[in-house]
Amino acid sequence: MNTIVTEDIALAASLILKGELVAFPTETVFGLGADATNGDAVAALFEAKERPADNPIIVHVAARSDVAHVAAAVPSTAERFMRSFFPGPLTLILERHPNISSAVSAGLSTVGVRMPENETARALVAAAARPIAAPSANRSGRPSPTTWEAVREDLGGRIACILKGAPVRIGLESTVVDCTTEVPCVLRPGGIALEALQTVVPETKGRPSGSDGDVRSPGTRYRHYAPRGRVVVVETAEGIASPEGAAYLGLSIPEEPQAFAVCEVVPDAEAYARRLYEFLRECDRAGIETIYCERVEPAGLGTALMDRLERASRG
Ligand code: TXA
Ligand code: MG
Repeated sequence: MNTIVTEDIALAASLILKGELVAFPTETVFGLGADATNGDAVAALFEAKERPADNPIIVHVAARSDVAHVAAAVPSTAERFMRSFFPGPLTLILERHPNISSAVSAGLSTVGVRMPENETARALVAAAARPIAAPSANRSGRPSPTTWEAVREDLGGRIACILKGAPVRIGLESTVVDCTTEVPCVLRPGGIALEALQTVVPETKGRPSGSDGDVRSPGTRYRHYAPRGRVVVVETAEGIASPEGAAYLGLSIPEEPQAFAVCEVVPDAEAYARRLYEFLRECDRAGIETIYCERVEPAGLGTALMDRLERASRG
């Protein structure tokens, strides 16, 4: 298959309506979109990504009012989150509407719904006039793509189209919050911090630790976000024993930056998040075997960043 790379939103929307797969930018990472009401298109999504069949997919809408066509019920906690954080990097787990193909939910009665802030993403969903199911546009297990070139690297030849457009702003995926329980609970930390959610619904719980969290959020069971090289999370940049041929990414400057094959220092957690996935891919392209990443304070966006670093480092 010849993958079209374009900025033409109308063309991309027409392909979605034909049941084809279209990658598009969001403010978090690139998504791989399919018509969420078309079971065959959703099945093709799983195949193109080589995604495990029991991992459900997030549905993207263009307006708050569209949530009613995706979810069977919207509890008051979800209403409050939508008012404060839609559009934005937040996914709400709600009971699924019968409009939405059950393949999207991988057998669950629930559905993840998100209204992206990225203009290109919303324009695509609006032009298709359908909810769009979209996982991150990487091969399963690889770091999520934050550039259209990274999408092509993983999925070129396997999907109909890559839509170029407004760049990703955050670089890590959305926060996933289960709103089907009385007390909302974070299943995956992401672009909206727990602290921000708690300003709107104070009782919101963080992700349950250990295996408990993995049971409730199917996607978090799998190896994730991993480059081919080995990721090692270090407490600080000082005293890394074998920098030769290795790469480093972090907030502090190593003692001998020139000893690393690649050494990159970022000013804050936001810049770290924006850079992480593309950095890991660049290390792979350069054939680097060991990638040192400095840990960050697990607060605010740092919680999501540490979650991804820990998963990437699980070999
Ligand atoms: O930022 C994002 O969320 C990006 C962009 C493209 O929107 N999408 C994304 O999708 O990260 P994906 O498929 O890579 O991750 C979706 C996560 C998985 O952990 C999945 O298990 C969880 O959301 N999820 C989706 N639907 C769910 C449901 N009904 N119940 C529980 N977890 C769900
Ligand atoms: Mg993903």
